[in-house]
Amino acid sequence: MDLTVSRPRRLAGEVVAPGDKSVSHRAVMLNSIGEGQATVRNFSPGDDCTSTMGIMRALGVDIARTTGSDDAGDTLVIKGAGIDGLRAADDVLDAGNSGTTMRLMSGILAGRDFKSTMTGDDSLRSRPMGRIIKPLSEMGAVIRGRENNTLAPLEFDGGALNGIEYDLPVASAQLKSAILLAGLRAEGKTRISQPDASRDHTERMLKAMGADIEVDGLNVAVGESQINCVDVDVPGDISSAAFWIVAGLIHPNAEVVIKGVGINPTRAGVITALQDMGGNIELVDERDVAGEPVADVVATTSNLRGTELAGSIMPLLMDEVPIIAVAAAMAEDETIIRDAAELRVKETDRISATVDWLVAAGVEAEAREDGMAIVGSGRIAGGTYQSQDDHRIAMALGIAGMVSEEPIRVVEASCASISYPEFWDILQSLGGIVD
Ligand code: S3P
Repeated sequence: MDLTVSRPRRLAGEVVAPGDKSVSHRAVMLNSIGEGQATVRNFSPGDDCTSTMGIMRALGVDIARTTGSDDAGDTLVIKGAGIDGLRAADDVLDAGNSGTTMRLMSGILAGRDFKSTMTGDDSLRSRPMGRIIKPLSEMGAVIRGRENNTLAPLEFDGGALNGIEYDLPVASAQLKSAILLAGLRAEGKTRISQPDASRDHTERMLKAMGADIEVDGLNVAVGESQINCVDVDVPGDISSAAFWIVAGLIHPNAEVVIKGVGINPTRAGVITALQDMGGNIELVDERDVAGEPVADVVATTSNLRGTELAGSIMPLLMDEVPIIAVAAAMAEDETIIRDAAELRVKETDRISATVDWLVAAGVEAEAREDGMAIVGSGRIAGGTYQSQDDHRIAMALGIAGMVSEEPIRVVEASCASISYPEFWDILQSLGGIVD
């Protein structure tokens, strides 16, 4: 499905952020291997988290899903199978487009007493899996993949695991979590040290579930543990909210309120970056929801200026670079983004995908090996641009269409459903004209 977005005269309204994708994945996975029963509210409506739920069901876990209203999201009731209770699936497990599903589930499948095979779509089958296979193999897992054990489909033989000490080569929460989840069933301690902080939802949830886990700065240690199911109220997804925040800042006549946004410091780099660019962003009614900090976010028309993004802030905003790039194009002066090579191995190569459409839209932008440079001019030309079937590129294009000189036609716009199925309807409700 292709969609065209045109600029509204005014952009105003209130949006409830959908349930956080990262927290939703973990809430299903961890409760599925917990003792007892849990209710997960405001579960992410995106296809990625449905892939995780489908895999857990295929492994024998009883999960009931009720569809919620627009403001409340879906509810899951999960009957935990216990740490050893999963059973062999009778088919190949399908992670769809979801890197988080494939990498975290690998940590869960590695030490089982049964075999599994897991695959995904074209994009996921081209993303690097060697980074998880290496430490899991050191723990004793037997995992095979295509291209010399670097690509899915992945085959897991199962078997006993032992704890390891591992220095992460990249600040990846997926890699860290895969090792921690394997560590729950490994003999002895598993110790990880990270080069930089990455999202810490796994550590927070494991702690709340009673696992033997210790966090000390960039070091995390986990021991063999049984975990208890816990109810989770999933906070709103800051990665989804970021699109409306940027829309509110770059549109000349805007005020957007996004309710219930998770502002965990390991996720909120986008707010810091946009505020540094001069963005009028206010956090209102800061509160705690199930161990995660949450606030309502108000974004209003701003005069943005360019910035430099590099170093330890990058893992805290990596998923938001495609939409930060739109803010940079609408800002004054240059924005330089470095230390972002991870973008090259996301759902698409997001450095090329972003720079390609910006250049086609008349923006002075250059791809670099580990980032990009964008010279802001406050102007984005209309036209037809490819989402490359990447949800975050599609949504960034949609927001660009709300400020571009002529309408923007987004090719393959429906992929927004990977994280945010209601995105286009909400864009329309905020005044963006979609057809
Ligand atoms: C995620 C971790 C990040 C992020 C992804 C979700 C997670 O990936 O980009 O969208 O839920 O753990 P990396 O771990 O590869 O950095």
